[in-house]
Formats: sequence, C-alpha cells, structure tokens
Amino acid sequence: MSVSAIVLAAGKGTRMKSELPKVLHPIAGKPMVQHIIDTLGEVGAAQINLIYGHGAEQLQTALAHNSLNWCLQAEQLGTGHAVMQAIPHIQDDDDVLILVGDAPLIKAETLQSLIATKKEADLVLLTVVLDDPTGMGRIVRDGDQVKAIVEHKDASEAQRQIQEINTGIMIMGGADLKRWLGQLENNNAQQEYYLTDVIAMAAEENKVIKATQASSAVEVEGINNRVQLAKIERAYQLQQAQALMINGVSLADPNRIDIRGEVSTGTDVSIDVNVVLEGKVVLGNKVKIGANCILKDCEIADGTVIEAFSSIEQAVVGTDCNVGPYARLRPGSVMKTKAKVGNFVEMKKTELGEGAKANHLTYLGDATVGAGANIGAGTITCNYDGVNKFKTDIGEGAFIGSNSSLVAPLTIGKDATVGAGSVITKAVESEQLAIARGKQRNVTGWARPVKK
Ligand code: UD1
Ligand code: CA
Repeated sequence: MSVSAIVLAAGKGTRMKSELPKVLHPIAGKPMVQHIIDTLGEVGAAQINLIYGHGAEQLQTALAHNSLNWCLQAEQLGTGHAVMQAIPHIQDDDDVLILVGDAPLIKAETLQSLIATKKEADLVLLTVVLDDPTGMGRIVRDGDQVKAIVEHKDASEAQRQIQEINTGIMIMGGADLKRWLGQLENNNAQQEYYLTDVIAMAAEENKVIKATQASSAVEVEGINNRVQLAKIERAYQLQQAQALMINGVSLADPNRIDIRGEVSTGTDVSIDVNVVLEGKVVLGNKVKIGANCILKDCEIADGTVIEAFSSIEQAVVGTDCNVGPYARLRPGSVMKTKAKVGNFVEMKKTELGEGAKANHLTYLGDATVGAGANIGAGTITCNYDGVNKFKTDIGEGAFIGSNSSLVAPLTIGKDATVGAGSVITKAVESEQLAIARGKQRNVTGWARPVKK
C-alpha cells in the first residue's frame, strides 16, 4: 500500500498582502510549501498532488524541480473541493495523506506516526490542544471516540470551549475518501465544501477513527500573515540552532544565528553572534566563526578562523587559514593550508597558495598566488579592461610591495619582488626585482606658498 499525499495550496493568502502566493513565502530561505514537499520526500510518499489555484505561474516556476501532480482548483470552494481535484490520481487502495501548504514545520516523524497509526484505523487525524483555539476546527468526541470536526464558524458555544483542534493534516484510505467526498455538501456558515465533514461520515459508518497529537503547537501552526511568518521563522531557526548545539557546535547565542540551507559541522566548531549560513555550508573541526559573518555555499576546513564581518560565497578555505575581519571571498576563491586574508581584502576566482598572505586592503581577481607569496597592502590585480577579463599568475615566494597595480595578463615569477607603488605591465622573471614608479626628486630650498 503506498502513501499518496495531497497538499492544499490553492488559497490566495489575502492576509499576507503580497504579490507572492502565500505558500511561496520563504521560511529559512525556502518556500514554505517546499519544506512540506521535502518532508514528504523523507517519509517516502509515492506521489505528491499539489492543489494550486492562485499564483499558478509563480508556483510552477518556483517548484519546477519537484516531481508533482499539479491539480488545478480554479475556484476555491473549500478544503473538501480542493481535495476533489486530486481524485483522478488517487487509487482506491492508497493511503491518502492530506496536508495544508501553509504549515511548514510539520516533522517527518509526526507524519510517519500518522502513517503507522493508519494501519490500525480507517482514518487518523493529527490534532493539537491550543490555549486559544479561536478560528480552528474543533475535535468533537464522545468519550474517547472522535465523532466529528466542527468549524469555528459553525460551532455552538459549548463546542467552542473545545481546545483540541484539527491541524488540517489527516490520512485515510483512497476508496473511503472518494466515497465521502461524493457526499459533501456546502450547507454551512461559509458555504464551502469542508473536508472536515468526512469525519462525521466516517463516524456514521462506524469506521475506526484515531487522533494522534502533534509534538507542539508550532509544528502544525498555519501561517496567515507576516507576523506568523516571522514567528515560524524564529521557531524554525531556534530548532536548527538547537540541532547544531546537540551536534557539538558552540553558539554564542542560539537566538542569533540564521541557517538558510544545509550545514554540516565537525567537532568543536564555535560560532559567534549574528552569523548567517546559506546554501550548503561545510565546517570542519575547530572552525571558529566571528560575529556578523555571512557564509554561503562554502567549505571551511579544520582549524580555520573566520573573523568578524567576513563574507564568503562559493569558496573553499583550507585548514588552519585565517580570514578577516572584513574579508570578502567571492565565488571561485580558494585558500590553501595556512593562507591568510586580512581586512578589506576581496578575492574572486583566485587561488591563494599554502601559507600565502594578503593581509590588508587588496583585490585579487582571476589570479593564482603561489605558496608563501606575500601580497602587500593595497595591491590590485587589474583584471578587467572594461570588456575582457585577464589572468594574473604570481609565483611561489613572490613579494608584492604595497600599493602595486598588477595589470593582467601578467606573470610574476617565483621569488620575484615588486617594489612598492609599482604599476606592473610586463612579466617579471623569477628572482627579479621590478620597480615601476616615478623617481623621487628632492628639492632643497623649497619655499612653501604663503596666504595672499
Ligand atoms: C482548515 C480546517 C480547520 C483547521 C484549519 C487548520 C476545513 C474546513 N477547516 O480551516 O478544521 O483547524 O484548517 O489550519 O478544512 N485551500 C485550498 N482550496 C480551498 C480552500 C483552502 O487549497 O478551496 C487551502 C488553503 O490554501 C490553505 C488550506 O487549504 O493552505 C487551509 O485553508 P484555510 O482556508 O486556511 O482553512 P481554515 O479555515 O484555516
Ligand atoms: Ca488556515
């Protein structure tokens, strides 16, 4: 028996006040509905039926890389009507797992336990007890037995006192679902076809109905406006921070780190406040990251220290390197073991060899720097003539004096020296000294101008 998922995402999300469909608003940099799709992948759903309506084009673009059955609900006539749109894809012997697209923190374990419980029941609901259940569908029981879900707007005063609510997540057999959907009517307060009406139908048929509880309210909390979006974002970030700490990472403050992607960490990593990790980030053993750094799609090897306010993107930093403070490693930057990049140094498509240093105020673009080379303060690789980019190759052990412009294409040999303040336009052979600057003239007897 395979699990077919149906994700309801046709609503507009009016309260977001946005051009972006609600389910595409990001949590941790990823559309909220993508979180749900990824979690369904983890639980091994055989197919995912996405009910869509509003913002069709934007959804199809943003979710194009997923394998989904796209089910158009042209008019939003209620959650039951939404589920009907997936029926052509549902087999009678499927277990049909229904979720809402705007509650992104649902956990794989919770869905797994729902799927497991379905083996002992005909219909399983995921419920949660809320301090304030206003607006939610209430779980009506007779003793222990679930009898119905009553929507807030249709509930009596007594029913409104019930704090156990419908999360919108449930599972049932395909044949049952089809039969019950066929009997839905919209004679209720909102004149909608409520999916939740199938529970009373199941009870009527004496089906076995079970309810399992979510691990917390936040796990199943739906997002309707940007206040809730921010709340869920913070809750999710705290979960990720806690997972890192459990994995042996020290965080200066778990409330001041943002992870928008996948992070893998070695032992004894420590991360200071206000660090943002994006995309795929790999941190080796004993890596230290200073305050206010942004790391995106990069690898930082063992023992490396990234100092405060550094920005690193699509770069590979070797073992025992030093970066920053205020360094910027752009895509294609590679630092070999024990290399050092200091403050206000920018690198792009550049390899800095083992133990090489660029300690201050430098731009290295489209360059290779050999092992042990020293790049003086204020060195600029002039890699761009306004149209094309050119390469600079600096040999091992070379010494580039401060405030030099290296006009590419250019080769500087092994152990060569460039005098400070030079504009170098021609190749320098190994061990040569190149100086290309105005000659100093000292004028004696010079009288300073006086004020007229
Ligand atoms: C629904 C449940 C309620 C539950 C609550 C949990 C029903 C009738 N009510 O109420 O019991 O407590 O969720 O959040 O099911 N959608 C469609 N097409 C539609 C209508 C809705 O795709 O025609 C989608 C929405 O985009 C949304 C989800 O279904 O993602 C839930 O719809 P919403 O209108 O928010 O339902 P609630 O009134 O909150
Ligand atoms: Ca809702």
